[in-house]
Amino acid sequence: MDIRKETIFQDTAKLTIGDLSVELPVITGSEGEKAIDISSLRNQTGFITMDPGLGNTGICTSRITFMDGEKGILRYRGIPVEELAEHSTFVETAYLLINGMLPTRKQLNSFSVQLNDQSLVHEDMKGFYQNFPPRSHPMGILSSMVNTLESFYPILKKSETREEEINITLTRIISKVRTMAAMSYKISRGHKVVYPRPDLCYCGNFFNMMFDSPVRPYQVDENAIKALNVFWILHADHEQNCSTSAVRLVASGRVNIYAAISAGIAALWGPLHGGANQAVIEMLEAIQADGGNIRPFVERAKDKNDPFRLMGFGHRVYKTYDPRAKIIKKTADMLFEKMQVSDPLLDIALELEEVALKDNYFIDHNLYPNVDFYSGIVLRTLGIPTNMFTVMFALGRMPGWIAQWKEDADNPKWRLYRPRQIYTGNKTNHYVPIGERA
Ligand code: SDX
Repeated sequence: MDIRKETIFQDTAKLTIGDLSVELPVITGSEGEKAIDISSLRNQTGFITMDPGLGNTGICTSRITFMDGEKGILRYRGIPVEELAEHSTFVETAYLLINGMLPTRKQLNSFSVQLNDQSLVHEDMKGFYQNFPPRSHPMGILSSMVNTLESFYPILKKSETREEEINITLTRIISKVRTMAAMSYKISRGHKVVYPRPDLCYCGNFFNMMFDSPVRPYQVDENAIKALNVFWILHADHEQNCSTSAVRLVASGRVNIYAAISAGIAALWGPLHGGANQAVIEMLEAIQADGGNIRPFVERAKDKNDPFRLMGFGHRVYKTYDPRAKIIKKTADMLFEKMQVSDPLLDIALELEEVALKDNYFIDHNLYPNVDFYSGIVLRTLGIPTNMFTVMFALGRMPGWIAQWKEDADNPKWRLYRPRQIYTGNKTNHYVPIGERA
């Protein structure tokens, strides 16, 4: 959307550089956030801004998700994530994020039918799975497989039914990634692929495709389905995080949406981002293997000379407890109670949190548990293998990536993302023939 129509221009910021003075518009969002619109800065002053890590830089206005990092607020289309986790389902929340409002019963039923209709994967795609080396990480497989969707389901250019084409494509992605993830798991174990069933809900189908087998038929477990809905609702969107910005940036070149989503999956994979949920469990297992003494790990995390960090702690935006971590923790407690199970890693995580939250280093650095700190505990209890934890994050984030892609794609002023730099390398240099080089 046009930035100028989208926000209220209240006043201007005055920038003085030497004897040059310029006025730049200040924009205010619907929750009172303020930004200085510098889109004319270089033309007016010859200067650009510098913001490594983009921590102070807005790349867009958006109506989708609101976060307040100081107060620990997260809302999708204005609805607090706590309410959605308690009352909604992942499919309903996906509809909300993509379409901007909660669906009527009729709209929700139609969306569910579309998801069901799109749940099969082209049989020829199975061949790709067989050719990945046995130890391939499921995130690399998922990113590659999503990219192949363009070959099997190309979006017709400029067709008079483009709007409908796009909607089918968005539904196709949300439905097929769930099937592709389960296929990847089954094939990695040398087991027959399980097909989606029309009588199961989105989450129930995922569990069935993952765990159904002739020797142990899948039994619907409503507690596990509730927990998975909550897990995916909490991961569904998070404004301009690393992977969502990657989707927007890659899509801005007008590549097909499958390639942009594939880039988002790749960006999410890293341990500083979505890969942290796997890294947290590996850290807790290392503490357990080391006799359960958390103190050395806390001290290493504080040591400037040690690259080790407390995985699942800290956040670029939240400078207080991640609201999602609170809900995930409660979900873990619910699962343990209903399933009558326990997990020694949860005890280690709770002790780690208690010690860290009292330690001045973590207090001074505003380091609190984030969504990844407890999510692995829930996924373990649901029987998901550790190397698939980030795939589970990616499946949850699909509606968010799609909604954010759509917001850019629907903007008539959508521009190519092309940041600038300040060059600090050699000044003019010349080619020297190899015989004359030192
Ligand atoms: C996700 O952006 C999103 O919204 C992401 C996400 C989403 O839903 O999309 O919420 C999902 O990615 C959550 C974050 C998962 N990552 C981890 O849990 C990895 C561990 N955490 C960090 O590496 C770190 O906290 C980041 C990457 C999450 C945020 O880092 P920043 O904002 O770049 O901050 P920084 O690295 O500059 O750290 C600031 C200070 C440093 O100390 P000083 O040099 O200033 O003294 O805090 C320290 C850091 O050393 N610090 C940590 C720490 N995180 C930051 N010290 C120990 N352990 C940590 N985990």
